[in-house]
Amino acid sequence: MAKRVLVTSALPYANGPIHFGHIVGAYLPADIYVRYRRMLGDDVHYVCGTDEHGVAITLKAEQQGQDYASYVDHWHGVIAKTLADVDIEFDVFTGTAAHRNPFHAELAQQFFQDLHGNGYLVERSEEQFFSEKTQRFLPDRYVQGTCYHCGYEKARGDECPNCGKYLDAKQLKSPTSTIDGSTPTLVETKHWYLDLAKVRDEWLGDWFEGKAGDWKPNVQNFVRSDLKELRERPITRDLPWGVPVPVDGAEGKVLYVWFDAPIGYISISRQHWEDQGQPERFEEFWKSADTELYHFIGKDNITFHAVVFPSILWGAKRDWILPTNVPANEFFNLEGKKFNTSAGWYIPEGALDGTVSPDALRYALCTMMPETADSEWTWSELQSRINDDLADNLGNFASRTLRFLEKFFDGVIPAWSEPNEADEALLAAAKAHADEFRAHLDKFQFRKACQALMALGNTANKYYDTEQPWVTVKDDATRPRCGQVIRACVEMIDALSILATPIMPRVADNLRYAIGRGDQAVSLETVGAPPSDAGEITGAQLASALPTFIDAKGNKKTALFTKVTDDYIAAQRAQLEEMAAASEGPQPDPIADGIEFDQFAAVDIRVGTVQTAKKHPKADRLLVLEVDIGVEVRTICAGIAEAYAPDELTGKRVLVVANLGARKLRGIESQGMVLATDGADGKPRIVEPNADVPNGTRMK
Ligand code: 2FM
Ligand code: ZN
Repeated sequence: MAKRVLVTSALPYANGPIHFGHIVGAYLPADIYVRYRRMLGDDVHYVCGTDEHGVAITLKAEQQGQDYASYVDHWHGVIAKTLADVDIEFDVFTGTAAHRNPFHAELAQQFFQDLHGNGYLVERSEEQFFSEKTQRFLPDRYVQGTCYHCGYEKARGDECPNCGKYLDAKQLKSPTSTIDGSTPTLVETKHWYLDLAKVRDEWLGDWFEGKAGDWKPNVQNFVRSDLKELRERPITRDLPWGVPVPVDGAEGKVLYVWFDAPIGYISISRQHWEDQGQPERFEEFWKSADTELYHFIGKDNITFHAVVFPSILWGAKRDWILPTNVPANEFFNLEGKKFNTSAGWYIPEGALDGTVSPDALRYALCTMMPETADSEWTWSELQSRINDDLADNLGNFASRTLRFLEKFFDGVIPAWSEPNEADEALLAAAKAHADEFRAHLDKFQFRKACQALMALGNTANKYYDTEQPWVTVKDDATRPRCGQVIRACVEMIDALSILATPIMPRVADNLRYAIGRGDQAVSLETVGAPPSDAGEITGAQLASALPTFIDAKGNKKTALFTKVTDDYIAAQRAQLEEMAAASEGPQPDPIADGIEFDQFAAVDIRVGTVQTAKKHPKADRLLVLEVDIGVEVRTICAGIAEAYAPDELTGKRVLVVANLGARKLRGIESQGMVLATDGADGKPRIVEPNADVPNGTRMK
């Protein structure tokens, strides 16, 4: 009986491009699973969109001088295209920002209020770091300081990369804001916390143990260890961009992005069914206890999908369904290292164009999927999977069968007639491979599903080789047997196209079209069964349906897949190394937005000489300078203590922004700013004017 199935892929942040690591982790497996369940005849709804709130997005938009909505629009478009390029086909792909999804904020607020009303939120005021410079509260991870466990000087407020311990940001020594370099102060602010321990004790613990027996072991282990150490989690933030907290006294506060993002699955789905004019379908999917719900994610999202989001759904007490399974993947690397665009360690856009088709890429990625452990993309693996599996196995079988039909049977597919033992065995083997394929996909074992597809290809090729149609075709006595063998091969093309459907949808269509079954329903049940219509088939497209290419000798050839050459692979490897080498060292900042000359001219920059320098009594990073700028002597606090001892500054020539408003920095008034830049070590360097320019000269 058809089942109702809801599938989600992690909402990608609208804050940068996504790469193959993301695709192989959360989008490709979900898309394959959705196509598979549709092939089984299930009622499937596949939801995704961009995650458009949060501190990182807020800061990036501000740094780039863009309004938040335009900023997320840009990345929404880029990400949607990347996913479409590999044929990830959602029913709906919108997002969580109000201008893109009118249902999101209201729904997220309703969840907040439901949890509040049901006693699962705790309200508390606590001190948090605040930047006077930007008048913003600083999330812990944007505060840097010395770790109170191991003394590491660049520990992040939330955890120490050196000793790996979780930190209480307030206990860091010498905290600084990594956003603006200022020394933050502690200011009290009110927030709401989700009482996860209470949810665990009332329900979550039992639910998980009763539910998750067949979840992937990596996910089960992760969640079990999480459940032991559940803390109250703050679900609100002080930020200007996001879903407003819907209670009095919460002005200027928004819901934490990780609270509102998973609710995005629901609001995006609601938007879809409203747009379709079928609002009842929304309720049917999200509130019927028999809907199966699957969240496809990467391993860094396990806690939120297997612990926090179920708690939110359950705690709201409105009959929201709960996840059936959370098939999370591990991490995916590139040639032994993490994908890292800024370090030049990535696959540049267009690298595969013209060589690797979207389907070949989907297949290759599927064989490399990090299902149970971290895995990696290597160029040589890509070459082997395409050449050995797709071209030599699947493609070779399809091409030789179709060419043979065209050449010796005038394009007419012979009738299924007088099958012998070998033919029965072939059908039985095909059925066994289809059963394996199905069992693997039911367990989210996508790599093994690829192996089942290739095993079917091997079986079919072996049959062709054993039956030798190129011999039997020559003799009138054996020609009928040749016809039956070729018909059996056509049935194998059909079977291969069915198993290929979720993984390589275009190739599957191509094959079905080639054998004249382009319009027929695709069903795994038919694999291995004798053909329902055993007669001759005319009108198939055969080899002419296959893609054409020009071979090395300049001849036009048809083939399902073209091989990847050694030269291409060598070029890709070389390019990767070159990109990594070119990006070593600090990257120059992008040029800022244009300004008018008047704006530049308004900045009064004077040449000066440092007369004295001493340490700031209250701030380790600051030095207090007395600087002669020709017209007068100024006191200036400069954030350069990390790079200069006070003694080495006396007599140094500097450039001073002289008309910058005076500001108190930890108790000392700073009357201007000394121009500095970053050295290769990331530490500040003073910009020095030529020795023969007198103090007080204006820079222009
Ligand atoms: O890790 C991420 O990219 C998050 N944007 C995933 C969110 S998934 C869901 F909760 F929306
Ligand atoms: Zn530490």
